Amino acid sequence: MNFEPIIQTVLVLHFLGLALIIGSFALQLRRKQGFELGTMLIGAITQLVTGLILVGLVQMADEDVDNAKIAVKLIFAVVVLIAVIVARSRQAKALSAGTSEKKATLPFVHMAGMAALVNVFVAALWH
Ligand code: HEM
Repeated sequence: MNFEPIIQTVLVLHFLGLALIIGSFALQLRRKQGFELGTMLIGAITQLVTGLILVGLVQMADEDVDNAKIAVKLIFAVVVLIAVIVARSRQAKALSAGTSEKKATLPFVHMAGMAALVNVFVAALWH
């Protein structure tokens, strides 16, 4: 069976997930409060799901997968997801307590964006 069209299609979804995380992060880079984190969350989940599907498909197509590279990408993708989830929960708590959203949320938003950026470099430069 020719897996190439399926691999390319999932790769497009993988690029869209990347755009959701980095695009949303870039738009909010200078923000100190009022973060919109739903888009980053959808992107983070998309990257994990499409990334894992890609690994399976590439192996089914009998192509080589660089396990070390995938392990590093998996770790950073999990960091992105956890950072966004923590940011969302700290944002909700800060809003209901009326305390500073900047202190509670901003570091985790930036951690998520940076970890995603690291993964772009890993994907592009590690061959
Ligand atoms: C924030 C998370 C992630 C970002 C920003 C990201 C980014 C990218 C980019 C830009 C590419 C295209 C580069 C190329 O084809 O050489 C790519 C391909 C790929 N990614 Fe990801 N990725 C992420 C997470 C993951 C995860 C969690 C996995 C698997 C567990 C994964 C597995 C793959 C695979 C198998 C490819 C196909 C090309 C290759 O062999 O490297 N990715 N990713």
